[in-house]
Amino acid sequence: MAYIVALTGGIGSGKSTVADMFARLGVPVTDADIIARQVVEPGTPALQAIADHFGHRILTADGTLNRAALRREIFADPAKKTWLNQLLHPLIHQETRRQLNNVTAPYALWVVPLLVENNLASLADRVLVVDVHPHEQIARTMRRDGVSGEHAENILRAQASREQRLAIADDILTNHDNDEPLMPRVLALHEHYTALARQPKQEHP
Ligand SMILES: Nc1ncnc2c1ncn2[C@@H]1O[C@H](COP(=O)(O)OP(=O)(O)OP(=O)(O)O)[C@@H](O)[C@H]1O
Ligand SMILES: [Mg+2]
Repeated sequence: MAYIVALTGGIGSGKSTVADMFARLGVPVTDADIIARQVVEPGTPALQAIADHFGHRILTADGTLNRAALRREIFADPAKKTWLNQLLHPLIHQETRRQLNNVTAPYALWVVPLLVENNLASLADRVLVVDVHPHEQIARTMRRDGVSGEHAENILRAQASREQRLAIADDILTNHDNDEPLMPRVLALHEHYTALARQPKQEHP
């Protein structure tokens, strides 16, 4: 299996921006958010199971998952949330392994926003954290999504803290408002990861 670099960071920190730069350098990118959507696409057993469990009101008119309705269903009911997680987590895990196993490049970038929250660091060979100040995360999220400061702050509060993320980082890419351009620093990391991927794999103790 290819060498796996996990890329994480809080909401609005710049993960997608950074992942696009690695992709432009030819690095295969596996995105946890996309996989989470793929496992419940129309026609999947998981979507059928969700519709059977919650009722067909959980589907939109065109048969896709109504995420807002699902969020409402599980919001006030921990048992429903547990049921959903027990269905989806193994499927997401399996699909992630499948995609990463198919990589033929020296290393792959695995974009995983909830790496800390879901305790997934052991699946990666290396962890890259995009780091910004919380007030920058809030300002960028407000600007990008057109949401209120309060809304952005609530999302931030529900995520792991900046300190928790930095504690598991092997590499840190700062993305503060007035930082040096990202691309040269991404290129340096790319060269480093390419070299690391060439070394024989370290067995996890
Ligand atoms: N250095 C920067 N200065 C100003 N704005 C930036 C910078 N880096 C990224 N942005 C902008 O901030 C917003 C958030 O960036 P991005 O979407 O890459 O974050 P993300 O970590 O992928 O967020 P999410 O967790 O919501 O997926 C985007 O609109 C992006 O264009
Ligand atoms: Mg993103």
